[in-house]
Amino acid sequence: MASKLYALAFTIVSLFLYFTSEVQQLLLNTSNNSIPSSSSSSSSSSSSSSSVAPTTSLLLSISTRNKVLGTMEFKNAKNSENIVWEIVKEDFTFAAGTVPFNTCHASTIVEIEKNHFLVAYFGGSMEGDPDVKIWLQRYKDGNWDSPVVADEELDVPMWNPVLFMLPSKELLLFYKIGYDVQKWSGCMRRSFDGGYTWQDREQLPPGILGPIKNKPILLDDGRLLCGSSVESWNSWGAWMEVTSDCGHTWKKYGPIYVENTNLSVIQPVPYRTAKGTLRILLRSVETIGSVCMSESFDDGLTWSYAKPTELQNPNSGIDGVKLKDGRLLLVYNTISRGVLKVAISEDDGDSWKEVMTLEKNLEMEFSYPAVIQTRDELIHITYTYNRTQIKYLVLQPGKIGRS
Ligand SMILES: *[C@@H]1O[C@H](CO)[C@@H](O)[C@H](O)[C@H]1NC(C)=O
Ligand SMILES: *[C@@H]1O[C@H](CO)[C@@H](O)[C@H](O)[C@H]1NC(C)=O
Ligand SMILES: *[C@@H]1O[C@H](CO)[C@@H](O)[C@H](O)[C@H]1NC(C)=O
Ligand SMILES: *[C@@H]1O[C@H](CO)[C@@H](O)[C@H](O)[C@H]1NC(C)=O
Repeated sequence: MASKLYALAFTIVSLFLYFTSEVQQLLLNTSNNSIPSSSSSSSSSSSSSSSVAPTTSLLLSISTRNKVLGTMEFKNAKNSENIVWEIVKEDFTFAAGTVPFNTCHASTIVEIEKNHFLVAYFGGSMEGDPDVKIWLQRYKDGNWDSPVVADEELDVPMWNPVLFMLPSKELLLFYKIGYDVQKWSGCMRRSFDGGYTWQDREQLPPGILGPIKNKPILLDDGRLLCGSSVESWNSWGAWMEVTSDCGHTWKKYGPIYVENTNLSVIQPVPYRTAKGTLRILLRSVETIGSVCMSESFDDGLTWSYAKPTELQNPNSGIDGVKLKDGRLLLVYNTISRGVLKVAISEDDGDSWKEVMTLEKNLEMEFSYPAVIQTRDELIHITYTYNRTQIKYLVLQPGKIGRS
């Protein structure tokens, strides 16, 4: 009975799609067990699936003008166990126009407990204006609390917060303070109660900026690996800043950059590979135009020159996470900050398969993603929504082999 209804619904939907070319364009292609976006030409990273296999599962992402309305899944009765990449929740952390700042950017997210998150970002009149503060929002019991100020400095802008929770439950909030990017200094605050109260601000030692945009990773030996970078005159490159005592003392390793290139890579995403090396993925300048990668074979002390991967990057922040099943997930912009995608690598960054287009509107900005995987294995992403809001998405990852 149910299967007949499914079959009928499936037929109706198929006919509808067949005759609606606009919707057809939005049909995510599920042949070859992958879901490359239909907006294919925008990304060189799209996996090229070859033939249209008998469709077992269709995933539709319907977006009208500027707003993604969500996904609907139509399953063939014979194959209803297929699990494909799917948006299971989407939300803004606050409704438009309800906050005491005009713009916000550079969000970061951390899981406090099950279904309990903290998100931080900077907000003020405009990026770099003296009234820009670090704001914090809590998601709990299914709701977002209003933003509260996490730190501010009279007449000096703040930048790029990064939240990270240690296994001891000590919560770290890193951020930068300074008149501009070339002159900022690294700072942090700690919380021992899940972000309800915070210790006084600590300034990091000179030359230590802390994790510059993306969350650090904690190694088994207790070292916290913080991907950092410098954007000074005619000189862009990354560093690995390392602390073994929760941010009290630091060492840094690098520089990490593209050989013979003054302006190259920033904002590393660190991860451990299956074969035991450490790698970082990096944002690069337009003249390079690709997500770059560097590798360390000695646990982070020395790093190779960064080299372009197959993924595009329009000089825009990325973030990634190594999933519990061993795959590497990256959220990144392609041709501009108006296109935000998710790609997966099953070989720690050597090759990539695009799995979803989260946003596409070249007149808007969807940028600076932050991504984590929670204990229930869902993927939680926050990102800048046209500089006025922070968008929050939860993804159900597709199964291995289904990308
Ligand atoms: C799906 O991919 C195949 C192979 O690349 C292509 O021929 C077909 O047009 C695609 N379908 C859609 C709806 O994009
Ligand atoms: C599926 O995609 C992979 C990688 O893109 C490719 O190597 C393979 O030939 C494709 N298989 C089919 C049946 O199209
Ligand atoms: C780097 O910049 C310097 C100027 O400071 C210039 O002389 C040099 O040629 C540049 N190197 C490359 C590889 O572009
Ligand atoms: C997005 O931001 C741009 C630049 O501020 C603005 O012109 C545009 O109207 C915004 N679009 C939406 C839909 O808010």
